[in-house]
Amino acid sequence: METTTEPLYRLKAVDRYFRVGSAEVRAVDNVDLELYPGELVAIEGPSGSGKSTMLQLLGALDKPSRGSVVFDGRDLSKLEDGELTSIRARDIGFVFQAFNLIPTLTASENVEIAMVPLKEGKAQRRQRAAELLDQVGLSERTRHLPSLLSGGEQQRVAIARAMANKPRVILADEPTGNLDSRSSEEIGTILRSLAAEHGVTVILVTHADNVAGWAHRRLAMHDGQLSERDDSQWTAPRAVPPPEASVGSG
Ligand SMILES: Nc1ncnc2c1ncn2[C@@H]1O[C@H](COP(=O)(O)OP(=O)(O)O)[C@@H](O)[C@H]1O
Ligand SMILES: [Mg+2]
Repeated sequence: METTTEPLYRLKAVDRYFRVGSAEVRAVDNVDLELYPGELVAIEGPSGSGKSTMLQLLGALDKPSRGSVVFDGRDLSKLEDGELTSIRARDIGFVFQAFNLIPTLTASENVEIAMVPLKEGKAQRRQRAAELLDQVGLSERTRHLPSLLSGGEQQRVAIARAMANKPRVILADEPTGNLDSRSSEEIGTILRSLAAEHGVTVILVTHADNVAGWAHRRLAMHDGQLSERDDSQWTAPRAVPPPEASVGSG
C-alpha cells in the first residue's frame, strides 16, 4: 500500500514529423515527459523549435508520428475522433495569444458557449459563467462585448472560458504575448491560483522571462527536443511511503 502521485501526462519517445515537399521537418523529436496534476509548467524556446506542435499533441489536436501520449491513463493515439473531441471539451482548456473571443457575443456568452457540448441548461451555464467571471475579477463586465474590454480583460474572459468545464489542463500558447506587463502579472496570478488551488495542470508556452518565472518547472525546447532547464527547481513527485514504513527503521 503506497500513496503514489500519478502523472496526468506520460509521453514516451514522441516524434512529430511533417513532410514538406521532399523534406521532413522534425517539429517534435524523441520527447519523453511526465506532467503532474497541479503543476505550472513553462515551455520556452526560439521560434520554430516545436512549442506549438507540443501543445497540439498535449491538447489532443494532433497525433504523434511515433511514440505515445498517454493522458489520464489513456493513449490518445488509440482513441476515436469522438472520444478525442470529448476529452478536449471536458478535460482541456485552451488559451491563445490572440484571445480568440467571438466579437458579437458578450463576455458571459463567450464563456457560456464553451459549456454547450456538455448539454447543461441555459440557466446553469449563465450561473457558472457569472461565477467564473467573478473569479477572474470581471463581475462588472459580464455584459460587455470584447471590443469594450482591454486586452488583459479579454484574456481573463478567455481563461474563464477555458475553465468553463472544469478541465484537468489549461494549455496556453503565449498567453501574455499581446499584453502589457501589468496585465501579464494579473494573468500570472490567475494561472498560478488555478494550479495551486484547483489542481489544474497549466502548461504555458512563452518567450518572456517574467512569465516563465511564475512556473514551478521550466522546460526548454530546441529543434524539437525538450529538456528540463538547469535552473528549474523541479523534482518529480515521488511515491510517499506509508508512515509505518519508517517505524523502527532508524
Ligand atoms: N502543419 C505543419 N506543416 C509543416 N511544417 C510544420 C507544421 N507545423 C509546424 N511545422 C514546422 O515545425 C517546426 C516547429 O513549429 P512550431 O511547433 O510552430 O514551433 P514554435 O511554436 O516553437 O514556433 C517549424 O519548422 C514549423 O515550420
Ligand atoms: Mg508557436
